[in-house]
Order: sequence, then C-alpha cells, then structure tokens
Amino acid sequence: MRLLPGQPVADQIFADVTQRVDALRHKGFVPGLATILVGDDGASAGYIRLKQSRAEQLGFTSPHLHLPATASQRELHEAIAEFNADPAVHAMLVQYPIPAGLDYDEALLTVDPAKDVDGMHPVNLGRLALGLPGPRPCTPAGIEALLAFYDIPVAGREVVILGRGATIGRPLAMMLAQKRPTANAAVTVVHTGVADWPRYTSRADILVAAAGVPGIIQPEHVKPGAVVIGAGVRYEGKRLLPDVDESCEAVAGAITPRVGGVGPLTVAMLFHNAIAAAERATLG
Ligand SMILES: NC(=O)c1ccc[n+]([C@@H]2O[C@H](COP(=O)([O-])OP(=O)(O)OC[C@H]3O[C@@H](n4cnc5c(N)ncnc54)[C@H](OP(=O)(O)O)[C@@H]3O)[C@@H](O)[C@H]2O)c1
Repeated sequence: MRLLPGQPVADQIFADVTQRVDALRHKGFVPGLATILVGDDGASAGYIRLKQSRAEQLGFTSPHLHLPATASQRELHEAIAEFNADPAVHAMLVQYPIPAGLDYDEALLTVDPAKDVDGMHPVNLGRLALGLPGPRPCTPAGIEALLAFYDIPVAGREVVILGRGATIGRPLAMMLAQKRPTANAAVTVVHTGVADWPRYTSRADILVAAAGVPGIIQPEHVKPGAVVIGAGVRYEGKRLLPDVDESCEAVAGAITPRVGGVGPLTVAMLFHNAIAAAERATLG
C-alpha cells in the first residue's frame, strides 16, 4: 500500500507560485490577494491568518476587511465591491462560513469573476463546464494535481465519487471527465439517491470520498488495489473525522493519509488561482 501525502504536491505548487510571483514583481507588478471575514468565528479567523501569512511569505499583498457578525448583506456586498474596484486586488476570498442570516451564494454573485479565487462563481463554474480557461475549484483541482503528481493513470479508468456537493463532487466529476491527459476518465457520481452505492464504489479504480460522513467508506466498499482519495471530513471540535475508515489502508493500493492528504492542496490551489488572476490582470 502506497501513501499519497498532499504536502509534496502542495510544495511543488507553491514553488511554481513563488517563481511566478517573482517574475511578476520583476515586471513591476505586486499580486494582491484580499480576504473578507464576517463575524468572530475563531476557526475562520485562524484560517484567514494562515492564508494571510502564507500570502505575505509568497510576496502577495493581503488587504483584509473584517466585518462584525451583525453586518448586513448590503455591507458585505459593499466590502466585496470595494475589492472589486481596487486595481491592487487581483483575487479575493470571502471566508466561509458567514454568520446565519447572511446569504453566501448571493454574496459570491457580486464578486468579480476575474477575482474569484475559489473558482466557485457561476461564471467560472460555467467556464469549467464549457472547458474554457479560468480558476478551478480548489479542492477538485488539488485532487487532480495529486493524481498527476503520483503518476496515477486516470485516463480511461473508472472513477467513482461519493458525494455530489458543489465544493468537491460536482466540479470534480466535470474535471475528471474532460479530455485532458490528467483526466479523461469514466466518471460515476453516487449520493444518497443511490441506495446501493457500494456496488459502484467497489468496482472503482479510483474512489474519491467527498460525503462528509465519518467512516462511511469501509474496506468492503473498496476494490482491492484501488486508489482511494479521502476528501470528505467532519470536524468534531478540533478532531478531524475523515470519510475513509483507517481499515481501508489494508485493501487499497494507494490511499491519502487521514491527515495531510487533500487538505494542503486546497490552500496551494488557492494561491495557484490567485497568481493566475494577477497574471491575467497585469500581463493580459
Ligand atoms: N479536504 C478539504 O480540503 C476539503 C475542502 C472542502 C470540503 N471538504 C469536505 O468535503 C466534503 C464534501 O463537501 P461538499 O461541499 O462537496 O459536499 P456537501 O454539500 O457537503 O454534500 C455531501 C454529499 O455527500 C452525499 N452524502 C452524504 N451522506 C451520504 C450517505 N450516507 N450516502 C451517500 N451519499 C451521502 C450527499 O448526498 P445528497 O446530495 O444526496 O445529499 C452530498 O452529495 C465535506 O465533508 C467537506 O467538509 C474538504
């Protein structure tokens, strides 16, 4: 059994981003990744700090707006509009989740698609569906990068994704079915509407768990020797509970570790999207 840690893949992506930031700065442009935090959720504030310190380390400016938990939808849209209009901001991130009573999807619609670092704006998901260039959703892009990094053949193979969520399952299915050397697979998506989903997962060459149900994938759901990518997680306090049960390691041919699998790639892809946005805005 081969372990597939995400960190070496993330390191390679960060090395590429660093080199591209340097090249951009050399031409007189400084990339800017803005962040917006609404409310005082400790975990969200922590994620923002991590992203800001990584941004500074990589040579991005990282302007930040912190709105109170009592902010209105309009105030959130105004904060987004401020960054939309700022030529020094090339990419922006509204930290999820936002307080109850505010509509994240509505807010996302007001982000300039060219600055959408998560690749989740409908225009960018539409570009993905049409095979046009644009920012790709970070976690699915990270999963494709992980498979490519470890030379795991995807083309022509059977990929089964458990979960059709907007963050992972749905965009990943589109990506891995596309006609590209690191994709081009036969992709099946299963969910709660497919009661006998184990029938599908147990024949997958590559199984991606993206359900957010701790331990839902057990050894009997995995074809011996298959590649298993654990993307779904649930947090109980600080404890991370993955979709893929530890015992699957005995059956899989290759598997992401319980901690440090797909997670590091999501952040790396965020910066990949941010530098690409800065290049598009400055170099055309
Ligand atoms: N590792 C990372 O960096 C990272 C990044 C982002 C998200 N995540 C995690 O990835 C997971 C998926 O996120 P998401 O936003 O894409 O999806 P989501 O909106 O949370 O949807 C979960 C999907 O799993 C399916 N599902 C749930 N329970 C199931 C069951 N018992 N049997 C079969 N299918 C089941 C649901 O089916 P229905 O559609 O039928 O309800 C749904 O399609 C979450 O755990 C999230 O925390 C991880």
